Amino acid sequence: MNLYKKITGLFSPAPASKVLVRGQHIEFTVPRGQTILESALREGIGFPHDCKVGTCGTCRYKLVSGKIGELASSAMGLSGDLYQSGYRLGCQSIPKGDLEIELDTQLGGAIAPKETSAVISGQRKLAHDVIELTLVPENEIFFKPGQYADIECRELSVVRSYSFSSPFQAGGSLSFHVRLVPGGVFSGWLFGADRIGTTVTLRGPYGQFGLHESDAVMVCVAGGTGLAPIKCVLQGMSQAQRRRDVLLFFGARQERDLYCLDEIRALQKIWGGRFEIIPVLSEEPVASAWQGKRGMVTEYFEEFLRGQSCEGYLCGPPPMVDAAELVLLRLGVARECIYADRFFNRIPG
Ligand code: FES
Repeated sequence: MNLYKKITGLFSPAPASKVLVRGQHIEFTVPRGQTILESALREGIGFPHDCKVGTCGTCRYKLVSGKIGELASSAMGLSGDLYQSGYRLGCQSIPKGDLEIELDTQLGGAIAPKETSAVISGQRKLAHDVIELTLVPENEIFFKPGQYADIECRELSVVRSYSFSSPFQAGGSLSFHVRLVPGGVFSGWLFGADRIGTTVTLRGPYGQFGLHESDAVMVCVAGGTGLAPIKCVLQGMSQAQRRRDVLLFFGARQERDLYCLDEIRALQKIWGGRFEIIPVLSEEPVASAWQGKRGMVTEYFEEFLRGQSCEGYLCGPPPMVDAAELVLLRLGVARECIYADRFFNRIPG
């Protein structure tokens, strides 16, 4: 028995519950054993969310009346003040009867997630441990650059989450960057053989990461395949002819881990404004021919930001994102102008 079943079994959820969103004339049904978030998304309601695993706090709501059980305590993803004030996490809450809840934001405006089957049409090696996976969906999935999708491979009985790596194209294919994870069931399967023609199930879009309107310099910080959502956002801006100054810090261990630089440089050429690419290697051998920057990406923020008005767009492993956030805050970037997608939220490949 897995943890989820064990926990849900403990507090015997109601057969189905109604959830009323106070002040927004929205009511939805949560079937037995489902979370508030998954039911809302299944009904096409744009309930705010990001990680879906209880760490980011984006899906918080205030419990006005009724009882819930929790997969993991909401206290893990909320500040003490919010928790004490009655806030809980939608992705961790299973109703034990009808509920009334309150949200800080108005629902609507978000793209409702959909499910469709999709066929693998491409698997192109981008680096020694990164593949670009291309899928042709049976039905179009609309998304905003920066969001992600769940890919279910029935053959392996696994579901994995990956950010869209290129913007939406009408009727076209969807692409994702898949890193080979040691022992990873899905990534190992993908790297192991030609999987073109295999049918998978695609669900999405999910997540809140994406472009925020402003004229501030975009400080984009990508670690590993955190480049995928950043690239998608920048390409989406280019398609929409939306120009802003961009500093793109790309952190990797060694030169062989850098990928898609040609594509990024092609984007830089047509950008029509300031667009600096700053690759930084943390473990490149001293004797190598690498002429670029070494160390951690955060060591170079001060030199490039130089007191300009900036926004942070951070994607990748949590230690890098956390460190980048701290340095940006220290350099005077407002907390509400820092947007992050921490990849630890995703199930390993
Ligand atoms: S904590 Fe629920 S979506 Fe992140």
